[in-house]
Amino acid sequence: MDTPSSGTSSGLRPFRTPADGIHEGPRELRRLPDEWEERPYRHVEVVPLARTIGAEIRGLNLSRPVGAELRAELNRALLEWKVLFFRGQHLSRDQQREFAAHWGELASLPLVPTGGHEAVSRFDDGPVPHFENVWHTDVTFRERPTMGSVLQVRQIPPFGGDTLWADMAAAYDNLPDTVKERIEHATAVHDYVPGFARYYTPAQLLPFQELYPPVEHPVVRRHPETGRRSLFVHLSYVTHIVGMEPAESDRLLRFLFLQAHVPEFQVRFHWQAGDIAFWDNRTTAHYAVNDYAPHPRVAERVSIEGDKPV
Ligand SMILES: [Fe+2]
Repeated sequence: MDTPSSGTSSGLRPFRTPADGIHEGPRELRRLPDEWEERPYRHVEVVPLARTIGAEIRGLNLSRPVGAELRAELNRALLEWKVLFFRGQHLSRDQQREFAAHWGELASLPLVPTGGHEAVSRFDDGPVPHFENVWHTDVTFRERPTMGSVLQVRQIPPFGGDTLWADMAAAYDNLPDTVKERIEHATAVHDYVPGFARYYTPAQLLPFQELYPPVEHPVVRRHPETGRRSLFVHLSYVTHIVGMEPAESDRLLRFLFLQAHVPEFQVRFHWQAGDIAFWDNRTTAHYAVNDYAPHPRVAERVSIEGDKPV
């Protein structure tokens, strides 16, 4: 990649900046898709928690039925903010599933314990160790990753246990043009085995190997509802870029993986018991901070089926 200046023509001593680095300075922090206008919300209060991603939705009790108008307004909020937070909801599992079902069919995800509850992924630091503290987008090892998830934290530790989300559309916007050109038509392989092999035995993973063969997804995903581009690779499941020399693929992926780590693209949420987060899995990555041992933390996720990334 080009460096801004070699310093030689300006009288400065010669210098170089590391190729492919992330540089300080202004970042483009565009929240809305192209040609979208800011419009007021009629049914809810939307309180931003960060510049481009994450808003708290006030004035709603999610245990009540969600009508068509409210559903449409919440969907617009989701597209505009990417992650919505609802404080103090304390939903039953049925209520949590009912709310999520307004966005589509619920997904059954066999690799995470359900706690005996249909269409629920339960994270309670039980027999399966915590494996959500890496920047990732959920279940992209499927042909059709989930569209989004509704997560409720049921039990909080006395400190820590936050979750962070990254705006992968903002991450894409800020890539150097040379990188954008290189990944424009690139695809990457997503495979659950390398990530999960750190936590499960081969005997536990083998049954799923046929269910989830490696899949190819575009490195840049276009959002099906807004048309906006997002960077769609992450550390958990992406093994390589198709048709690229391994060393070159590794180098480029390392750079792309770094983008989710940029704080300006993130929102960090500190949970209270009964809080809900609803995120758009098509344009975000997330990271569950694992800093609260030996205290328990119990979270339950209901996920919504999505479409094939294009
Ligand atoms: Fe996750």
